[in-house]
Amino acid sequence: MKITGGIPLKGTIKTQGAKNAALPVMAVALLLRGETLTLDNVPDLYDIHSMMEILQTLGVDVEYKHDGKNSQAIFRVPDELKWEVPESLARKMRASSLMLGPLLANCGRVSLPLPGGCSIGARPIDLHLKGLKQMGAEIDIKDGVVHARVKGRLRGRRIYLDFPSVGATENLMMAASLASGETIIENIAREPEIDNLAATLRCIGVTVELEGVGGVRIKGIDKAHSGRDKVIPDRIEACTYILAGVMTNGHIKVEDVVPSHIDAILAKMEEARAKFTVKKNVVEIFPAKRLHPVTIKTMPYPGFPTDSQPQMAAALSLAAGVSTIEESVFQARFLYAQELNRMGANIQISRDVAIIRGVENLHGAAVKATDLRAGAALIIAGLAAKGETRVEDMIHVWRGYEAIDKKLTDLGAKVELM
Ligand code: EPZ
Repeated sequence: MKITGGIPLKGTIKTQGAKNAALPVMAVALLLRGETLTLDNVPDLYDIHSMMEILQTLGVDVEYKHDGKNSQAIFRVPDELKWEVPESLARKMRASSLMLGPLLANCGRVSLPLPGGCSIGARPIDLHLKGLKQMGAEIDIKDGVVHARVKGRLRGRRIYLDFPSVGATENLMMAASLASGETIIENIAREPEIDNLAATLRCIGVTVELEGVGGVRIKGIDKAHSGRDKVIPDRIEACTYILAGVMTNGHIKVEDVVPSHIDAILAKMEEARAKFTVKKNVVEIFPAKRLHPVTIKTMPYPGFPTDSQPQMAAALSLAAGVSTIEESVFQARFLYAQELNRMGANIQISRDVAIIRGVENLHGAAVKATDLRAGAALIIAGLAAKGETRVEDMIHVWRGYEAIDKKLTDLGAKVELM
């Protein structure tokens, strides 16, 4: 993508359905037999189509309608599902690991290639496998493929997660839905995507009660029925556009936001003296002076989200002072820093902390997206930089940002796909 920077953004955009909510709730279809799952507000993204492709190879009939404003995905599930996930497809998308729980619970067995690592870390699934074993699964890994099976049904029980892993929470909640008896999972992830999954499980007949501070209680059922649910707005995409408005000193409105989902970001923006209002589900950004520096540590929800860390670093690279960002969730999520430095930023990384010395201006450069959120950070930096920026490897960005070129053009930006 080629970006001509220095233009203050103006106008209104609407947030897409959340990628990280849509992926697990689509996997819920694998809990059905001879029933249909209908989901509204499923975003038109590369990762979403990869997930649909995998579901189709397992025997699910997938219909996707998207008229530019609303979208709907319908999953018609056969009585008998296949349970082997093809290597070529599983490798395309890390979230394919979310099929382990539902397929094992519904078919009694599953073969799924281990999701590869990516540029932000090793991305192991040991917590997923540990929980499934506790529910009675026998698991062995041969040539990078997970083979899991269970005699009879998975058995409900109490499971404690050593880390509030989003994926492990989602996999085990889905596995528990068809297990015999009751499952209590403790120290679960509390991201809003987990509430979305709980609602979708309820719509197919599963009893899901959030329990205590960080627990969930699920009563397994024998057969799930058809249901319909809606995907929540994408809180990370919303933050990306909010920060684009801040960085270009623009005046924009971001609609279809759930303010409570982005409390941590809004609190840091307030600390940095950005100018904005929050009215119902609209965040409005106003021109303001240079941001003040802040200190950030990424944490599991409701802490500052790791997925907005690169975009925040881009915004703070123009602040009037020295900010620091400590990344505590992933091992290596600072690859974008060297690319921002090519645009004139002054970011030093020491172990898991980025030290960001604010500069007056960024200038355009040719840069590479190393992962989805790094790509987003480089794009919003390009919008603020003087001159022309070219962001290579846009495939990473298409995985999570629906029509980002059109949305930015609607906000008055000068962007062009090469
Ligand atoms: C989800 O990934 C999101 N992806 C990620 O978003 C997000 O960054 C992450 O949650 C944290 O919020 C989807 O929802 C599809 P985790 P997930 O399990 O489930 C370690 C984006 O940009 N861990 O909470 O993989 C893991 O290595 C993507 O949209 C284990 O050690 O996140 C990591 O350091 C990037 N063992 C940490 O926990 C396990 O079994 C958080 O991982 C599982 C995780």
